[in-house]
Amino acid sequence: MNNFEFCNPVKAVFGKGTIARLPALIPEGLKVLVVYGGGSIRKNGVYEQVAGALKNFQWLEFSGIEANPHYETCMQAVELVRKEKVDFLLAVGGGSAIDATKFIAAAVPFEGDPWDILAKGSPVKEAMPLGAVLTLAATGSEMNERAVISRISAGKKLNFATPAVFPKFAVMDPEITYSLPARQVANGVVDSFIHVIEQYLTYPVNAKVQDAFSESLMRIIVEEGRKVLRDPLNYDIRANLMWAATNALNGWIGQGAPQDWSSHRIGYALTAQFGLAHAETLAVILPGVMEYMRKEKREKILQLGAAVFNITEGSPDERISKTIEVVESFFRDMGLKTRLNEYEIKESALDKLVEPIAQMGWKLGEHGAIDATVAREILRLRL
Ligand code: NZQ
Ligand code: ZN
Repeated sequence: MNNFEFCNPVKAVFGKGTIARLPALIPEGLKVLVVYGGGSIRKNGVYEQVAGALKNFQWLEFSGIEANPHYETCMQAVELVRKEKVDFLLAVGGGSAIDATKFIAAAVPFEGDPWDILAKGSPVKEAMPLGAVLTLAATGSEMNERAVISRISAGKKLNFATPAVFPKFAVMDPEITYSLPARQVANGVVDSFIHVIEQYLTYPVNAKVQDAFSESLMRIIVEEGRKVLRDPLNYDIRANLMWAATNALNGWIGQGAPQDWSSHRIGYALTAQFGLAHAETLAVILPGVMEYMRKEKREKILQLGAAVFNITEGSPDERISKTIEVVESFFRDMGLKTRLNEYEIKESALDKLVEPIAQMGWKLGEHGAIDATVAREILRLRL
């Protein structure tokens, strides 16, 4: 196992009715900006719960954060925060509202052009304090230090990470997720599964705790994920999926182990250029990464097959093929497409899709072996 130093400072407040805990979580006397998306919280009662909890605070709101939040929209919020002298940001939503809030938190005190935080990786020395009320189990953003922001005019989706934007707290009430459309639920299941994969499916370093934790999370996500579409109002299923998704990307399973993240990075352009939802990009790309990297990932694919999908018969090569197949059919069972041509994306689109990888000079994967040319090959496998 490799050396590591890590601390996750986010206070998790989990369970039914936990929005009512907000007054105890936000320091008294602060002026709060509630940041949310396109209005789902106004239809499912979450807005009223938040408003009720904040009744003794001075607060205002900023809505309209897009799914895959836009840089330009975040910058409007930055102006509002500066003008209104807001002290604390409260994200209410899924990964998009939370990521946008993290970017706003970093951009407000940033000296220079905030786009550089994303485009040049400019260091973020300080950020405003923020908290999160999670409404969608998927990204783990509620309990991590990363965010992904899109600048549509530039066809770019970019990420940044800094401990300065860890939320102070994450309120997680699984009942809030009942109102999600089935498609969003399925996307969340697939995204969280692939978060584990990105930190697990590399090469063995004898990190037994991380491996066993990852395998348990994947088994739970697969089992409960298959159930949730049939039984959407089951609290225990929702609760297990929510806590699994948080743990899939709150930092712990990846410590001391090599990480991949190529499916994520290759996928950014599919969102920025073709509008696929985040998880939709991953369901297409991951089987290609597994296939293309089957030699490099051999040991871990075999371990994944045995530990999560009970694939123990046949030659190693047969077991690897079977595991890739089973992973892809899990995504299909969740209702996601797994081929580019199902989105009408043809070979002629591939050069432009890998352009950002070349421009950013990314060398992706646990060995840094995936550049734009290799990414193109991986995408070609998925036509
Ligand atoms: O905008 P509203 O009206 O709220 O509707 C949202 C949105 O349309 C809706 N929704 C959320 N909670 C709901 C609900 N509808 C009904 N009931 C509820 N309880 O669902 C739609 C999708 O929401 P969004 O926040 O976009 O989804 P998700 O949580 O999947 O976040 C996706 C974003 O997170 C980034 C992705 O790239 C993408 O931009 N990621 C962030 C990561 C991180 N910070 O660590 C890691 C991930 O890999 C990912 O890249
Ligand atoms: Zn993801």
